[in-house]
Amino acid sequence: MFRESVFVLLLLAAFVSLVPLNSEDHSKYPRPLTELEKDKFIVGGSTAILGQFPYQVALRTAAGTFFCGGVIISNSWVISAAFCTINRSNPTTFRVVVGTINSGSGGIVFSLNRVVNHPQYNANDVSNDVSLIQVQGTFTFSGAVNQVSLGSAFIGANVNGFVAGWGATAAGGQPVTTLRWFQAVTITNENCRQRFLDMGQLFAFLAVHDHKICTFTRNGTQSKILGFCQEDRGGGFVTNNVLHAVVSWNIPCGRASPDLYDRISWHRIWITSVTGL
Ligand SMILES: *[C@@H]1O[C@H](CO)[C@@H](O)[C@H](O)[C@H]1NC(C)=O
Ligand SMILES: *[C@@H]1O[C@H](CO)[C@@H](O)[C@H](O)[C@H]1NC(C)=O
Repeated sequence: MFRESVFVLLLLAAFVSLVPLNSEDHSKYPRPLTELEKDKFIVGGSTAILGQFPYQVALRTAAGTFFCGGVIISNSWVISAAFCTINRSNPTTFRVVVGTINSGSGGIVFSLNRVVNHPQYNANDVSNDVSLIQVQGTFTFSGAVNQVSLGSAFIGANVNGFVAGWGATAAGGQPVTTLRWFQAVTITNENCRQRFLDMGQLFAFLAVHDHKICTFTRNGTQSKILGFCQEDRGGGFVTNNVLHAVVSWNIPCGRASPDLYDRISWHRIWITSVTGL
């Protein structure tokens, strides 16, 4: 048994060293999987109405192009994914937009004070995929704009949470105009690793660090898998107005593989150190 484990580990090590995780098109997935990308699986979910997710923000470039989501955690701070902001540390390069369900228009547009990427963000395996964004001025809370509180409890399996975003509804698709949402269900990290292993996705198996949490969600008895897509990154996994995790990555969305998020409980001390929250 021990010898077998060692053998498997050696195989994994060999595989990983042969396939750099961020080769080629890192903007799409942590690693391209061409044959799976061709599978345009529907991700499911429903269209949101204004005020349903008042904590949800859109990140737009200075030119007004939507590129990622984020979550309001105080009257001046937003949390997002480092993937979204790692090449945008200069706060003049993008904006935070609150109070809208439209990805590219409307809402209240805020210029930025600071963009702080997690110092241990690693693009190779998308670890520590969180960033903090401070706007200039403060948000005025209303029915359409509000904050969530930050979770500090470790979340286990079978927890239901809302995930909202403007990501595509199929792998390789375009972001949508109107905010969409679904309810995701957590699984254990062990279950998550096993699923990737069973699918032969060894790089993903190795990237399920303890600071990640996975969801794997089916719509009732249907075989369809609900999940987030690329431009949903930076959004939140929220239960009862508490943010537990930030949308990180998956291998082609809506397919039979888990979605990965970064745990707020894990990053709580870093968040406090930057924001004082
Ligand atoms: C689940 O599937 C049903 C039937 O297709 C659909 O009406 C419903 O919106 C789906 N639920 C979610 C959360 O996507
Ligand atoms: C950030 O920029 C570097 C250098 O141009 C590039 O290799 C990398 O893919 C970019 N990362 C993201 C997440 O866009």
